Amino acid sequence: MRLLTLRLTISLIVGITLISLLSSYFEVRFQRRGLRRDLEHRVEVLGESLADRVEPYLNLKKGSRKDLQVIVERFGDREHLTGVIVYNARGESIAVTRGLAPALTAEPAVVRQAASNGQSAGEYIRMGEASVYIYAVPLHQDEAVAGRLVIVHDASYINAQSRRVWRDTFLRVLALVFLITLTTLLIVRWSIAGPIARAAQWMRALRMGKISSRPAAPDLDLFRPLANEMATFAASLTAARSAAEQEAQLRQAADTFWTAERLSVHVRGKLGESRLFVVANREPYIHRHQGKSVEAVVPASGLVTALEPVLRACDGTWVAHGSGDADRETVDKHDRLRVPPDDPRYTLRRVWLSKEEEEGYYYGFSNEGLWPLCHIAHTRPLFRGSDWEHYERANRRFADAVLKEMEGMDRPVLLAQDYHFALLPRMIKKARPDARVAIFWHIPWPNPEAFGICPWQRELVDGLLGADLIGFHIQSHCTHFLQTVDRALESRIDWEHFTVNRDEHRTAVKPFPISVEFPESPSPAEAGGSVYMERVALLRELGVEAAFLGVGVDRADYTKGILERFLAIERLLEKHATYREKFTFLQIGAPSRTHIKRYHDFLGEVEAEAERINWRFQTGKWKPIVFMKRQHSHHEIQRFYRTADLCLVTSLHDGMNLVAKEFVAARQDEQGVLILSRFTGAARELPDALLVNPYDIEQMAEAIRFALEMNTGERRARMQRMRKVVRENNIYRWASTLIGELCEVRLDQPADRLLSQLRASAA
Ligand code: G6P
Repeated sequence: MRLLTLRLTISLIVGITLISLLSSYFEVRFQRRGLRRDLEHRVEVLGESLADRVEPYLNLKKGSRKDLQVIVERFGDREHLTGVIVYNARGESIAVTRGLAPALTAEPAVVRQAASNGQSAGEYIRMGEASVYIYAVPLHQDEAVAGRLVIVHDASYINAQSRRVWRDTFLRVLALVFLITLTTLLIVRWSIAGPIARAAQWMRALRMGKISSRPAAPDLDLFRPLANEMATFAASLTAARSAAEQEAQLRQAADTFWTAERLSVHVRGKLGESRLFVVANREPYIHRHQGKSVEAVVPASGLVTALEPVLRACDGTWVAHGSGDADRETVDKHDRLRVPPDDPRYTLRRVWLSKEEEEGYYYGFSNEGLWPLCHIAHTRPLFRGSDWEHYERANRRFADAVLKEMEGMDRPVLLAQDYHFALLPRMIKKARPDARVAIFWHIPWPNPEAFGICPWQRELVDGLLGADLIGFHIQSHCTHFLQTVDRALESRIDWEHFTVNRDEHRTAVKPFPISVEFPESPSPAEAGGSVYMERVALLRELGVEAAFLGVGVDRADYTKGILERFLAIERLLEKHATYREKFTFLQIGAPSRTHIKRYHDFLGEVEAEAERINWRFQTGKWKPIVFMKRQHSHHEIQRFYRTADLCLVTSLHDGMNLVAKEFVAARQDEQGVLILSRFTGAARELPDALLVNPYDIEQMAEAIRFALEMNTGERRARMQRMRKVVRENNIYRWASTLIGELCEVRLDQPADRLLSQLRASAA
C-alpha cells in the first residue's frame, strides 16, 4: 500500500511539474513577445515625432545648435529611455543626451543600415550589462537624407518581467504539488486504504469461518463490482462449507440423507460423458404476458419440483410443451432458452402444439382418457379415435424434438415423464438404440381388468416397453403393470426380477417413491415459538375467528376427494357440536384443466358445497370452510402448513400425493396431524398419519375429531417418525436412485442374446 501511495505521489508530482513548466514557457514567450512589440511601437512613435522636430536644426552651424541639445535632453528624460543621439550626414554626432556618449562607443550597425536604406530600423543589443533597443530614423532635408536620429531604449525590464513569471510559476507549482499530494494521500487513506483494510479483515474472518454475511456496501462506486464478486464468493464458500459439513454429517448418519449437492456429484459421476434429457408435457417456466411486460411463472406441479434440481445439477435439457402466451417470444431460433431465468443452469426446449393438437393429445386422450382410466375415481374415461391420433402425433412431435436435441451426443440418457408419453420410449429407442431410456409414470396403474377397457392398451404397453426402465411410485403399480403386459402382449416376464423381455429387449419395472425437498435448519420465523402468532395473523387476514385450523391443498381435481372431505367436516359439526364456532377448514384449490367440462363443473361443485355447509353452520365471524380458488406459490403454502392443526389429504386414488409429504416437511415444530387417504402412494410410507378411507365420511369425521383431540406427546411422536421417513427419502434420493438405476442398464444385454441364440440353435 505504501509503495502504491509513493508511486502515485511521484507520478503526480512529475506530471504536475511538467504540465506547469510547459504552460509557463509558453506564457513567458507570449508575454515577452507582447512587451517587445509594445516597446518597439512606442519607440517608433517617439522617433517619428522627434525626427520632425530635429530636422530643421541639421544645417545650422555648430554654435546655433543649442536649442537642438535642449530638445534632445528634454526628450531623453523619459522613463526607460536611455538616450537620444542625432548624427549629421557625415555621421558626426551633433546632439546627444548626457551619459549616453560614453556608453555607446561605436555607431551600431542598424544605424548605418537605416542611413544607407533611407528607412527606419531597430534592433536589440547589449550595451555593457544592459539590454537595450536601438531605433534609428533617417533625417531628411530637401528630400535628401541629411542625418539620422538614434533612440536608445532600455529593454532589461522585459527580462525582469520574464524572470518574475518564471518565479511565480515555480511557487505556484510548489503549492499545487503540495496540495495535490496531500489530497491524494487523504483520498488513498480514507477511500481506498480504509475499505481495502476492512475487506481484508472481512475476508480473514470469512476464511476463519467467523462470518457468512455479505460484506458492507463499499463507500466508492469503484469498489462495487469487487464487493459484488466478494459477496458471490462468500456465498459459494459458505455453500461449499455447509456442503462439506453436511457431507461429514452424512458419513456420520450412515449415508441416509441426500442433498442437492450430493445428487449433483452422484448424477455427474453416473452420467460420465453422457448428457441428460427430460421430456415432460409441463414446462418448468411458463412465460406469460403481464400487462406490458413478460413474467416467468413456475406451474403448480410436483413434477417440476422434483426434476428441476436434477437438471440444474448436470446442465441437462428439458423438452416440454410451450404453453405460455409469451413462450415464443422468449426462445432462440432453435426454440431453446436457458433457465432458471435469473440463474441459468440448464436448457429448456419448447415444442409447439396447435390448439387442435393440444385439445386431442393433452385434454382429450391424456386427461379425459388415461387420467380417469388410471385413477379409478368413478369418472368414466372417454376414448375418442381422433384424440388417440393426436396423442400418437404429439408423441412423435416430442420424440423428434428429443432426437434433434440428442444429435451428435453419444449414449444419451432420457427420463420421460408421465402418462402423456406412453408411446415415446419406443420411438426414441428405435432411432437411438444407444440411448438409455426411462419413463416414470406419476399416476397409478390400475389392475389389468380396469386398464383393459382402453381400446389402445396394446399400443400403450408396447410403447412403454421401448424403455429400459419403467418407474412407478409403489410396488402394486408395478405389479399391475406387469399383469397388464401379461394379458395384452406376447412377452416373457421375469417375476423374480420384475423385468419384461420382448423382441430381445429387456425392460426393468421398479418402484421409486417420489418425494419433496426437506428443509434442514428452521429459520427463526419458522421455529416453534412464532407458530401461534402466525396463525392469529393468518386468520385475521382471512377475516375468520377460529380456535382450530385444518388445511387442504390440491389442484381442483375430482380425484382429490375434496367434496368427500367437506362432507366429513359437515359430519363432524353435526356429531360434535363443540367444534362449531371453533374449527375452520381452509381449502386451497388451484383451478386445473378447466377447459375440460368435468373439471369446470367440479370447481363449481366444490364452491357450491362449501357454500352450502357454510350457510348451514356459519355464525358471526366464524365459518367452517374457507375456499381459496387460486394457485398459491410454494412459499405462500408453507404458512398454511405451518400453522394448521391438521392437514387433510383425502384423494380417492393418487399415485403418491406430495402434499402429504410437503406438510410433514414443513412441520419443524413436530406438531400437526396428517389425515391421509389409504388410496395414496404416500400412505405406504407414512403409517403414522391417520389413515382413512375417503369414501367413509363417518370415519373421516372421527379422524378429524381424533386429530383435534390428540395429545401433544402423541402428535410429536407421530410427526417425528413421519419426518424421519420424508427426510431420508427426499426428492434427491428419488432422483439419484432413478438415474442411478438407469445408468446401470446394460445396453448390450448379453444374457438375452445368448439365450435366444441357444434357443435358435436348439430349434
Ligand atoms: C399430475 C401429473 C403431472 C402433472 C400434474 C399437473 O401430478 O402426474 O404430470 O404435471 O398433475 O397437471 P397439469 O395437467 O396441469 O400438468
